[in-house]
Amino acid sequence: MQGTPGAAGALDPLFPRLGNGGYDVRHYDLALDWAPARSGERAEGGPLRGTARITARATQNLSAFNLDLKGLEVTSVTVDGRPARHGRAGTELTVRPERELDKGTAFRTTVEYAGRPGPLADADGSEEGWLTGDAGTVALGEPSGSMTWFPGNHHPLDKATYTLRVTVPKGQRAVSGGEPETLEPEPDGDGRTTWTWRSRRPMASFLATLAIGRYELSRSRTPSGLPVVNAVAPGQDAEVLDRLPDVLDWSAERFGAYPFDSFGAIVLDPGTVGYALETQTRPVYPGSPSVGLVVHETAHQWFGDFVTPRTWQDIWLSEGFATYAEWLWEEDHDGPTAQETFDRLYATPGDAGLWTFPPADPPDQNSLFAAPVYQRGAMTLHQVRRLLGEDRFARLLTGWPKKHAYGNARTADFTAYAESLAPDAGTRAALTRTWAGWLRAAGKPDSAKPGG
Ligand code: TRP
Ligand code: ZN
Repeated sequence: MQGTPGAAGALDPLFPRLGNGGYDVRHYDLALDWAPARSGERAEGGPLRGTARITARATQNLSAFNLDLKGLEVTSVTVDGRPARHGRAGTELTVRPERELDKGTAFRTTVEYAGRPGPLADADGSEEGWLTGDAGTVALGEPSGSMTWFPGNHHPLDKATYTLRVTVPKGQRAVSGGEPETLEPEPDGDGRTTWTWRSRRPMASFLATLAIGRYELSRSRTPSGLPVVNAVAPGQDAEVLDRLPDVLDWSAERFGAYPFDSFGAIVLDPGTVGYALETQTRPVYPGSPSVGLVVHETAHQWFGDFVTPRTWQDIWLSEGFATYAEWLWEEDHDGPTAQETFDRLYATPGDAGLWTFPPADPPDQNSLFAAPVYQRGAMTLHQVRRLLGEDRFARLLTGWPKKHAYGNARTADFTAYAESLAPDAGTRAALTRTWAGWLRAAGKPDSAKPGG
């Protein structure tokens, strides 16, 4: 059978070039060497050297396929141990294996690369990718920054497991998501240490992180025995992290059993980046977080990480739920009720930013992290709660992530699932009106009444 090249994008409505077609990554094994002092030493050098071993399965007969990679120099590519031709255009690394790959075959691509990774500026002006602060560097990948430090299929649809081995200079630490092999690696002759982190549960590449620097590491267990690893930049107040077990318990009560094998936090130096990120098992905070922010990023472990939006257009399924989790937490902890929060937001004038577009249809790359996705998304969930009633809504909160465990889902999956919980045709019809008015139509909905 004649193979054809895999697509150069995963057909995301907002990011057409992100990700690639023709294969499905199973595992990333990344061996990285970070030596800032080496920078500029030689042409193919730079502070970062990497070997990415990517195990994937062909989903079509493949003559060639792409990986996403921004910047950095690729020095060699092999497929199943044989040299492969490769070329670069923009953020696409095209690999042409010596022999075509038959649909269904597993294959291993090894990419050797080096250079100076950098930040990536997003449409909304925020920065992601490889960021540098006083305590060190950190890699953040939402929505596309992971391509600044390793080649991959960088679309949320292609989840994979990860092994990350990172060698860093004396005195520095390398912290990631997943479970560490040890927190006390033996230094080599130069005092350099190698840190190994394993993510054994499927993870979208935008949820991978790596922080290198003088972080203070601590390891503990929650009362129920879940390992917790925290990394805190020097001088940051980390007392709020004592609340992690509480927040996890509350979240598991609301959303179902915690779906990963460890938890924790990476607290950066303020000034490194302006936002938090729900990196899998170990959210990154831009400085000492509030409890509300911890609740938000913890909820993302279920909504965003365990069940991941199928495309970036579906991001309200992450941010709407994480925001609603904050409302529920406040309601359960002597704060305003979710209804009060809803009412306060509904009172904002029709020309406010909250109403500029519907949550399920962000118009451009610029609108991923805007109020309609977060707040109006949460308001939509509140309407669903009122229509379904407390018991059925509680079932939705645990049932929805479980239904798409370690997978992806889109808005239509959610609306169908919510409708399946409706007790009668009238409720189903009211939900349908809610999708039209709250999720899909531009402008402020005429009525605050659920299904109205
Ligand atoms: N997804 C992150 C959160 O809600 C927020 C985030 C990521 C963000 N990138 C951003 C916010 C860029 C503003 C700008 O936890
Ligand atoms: Zn969020």
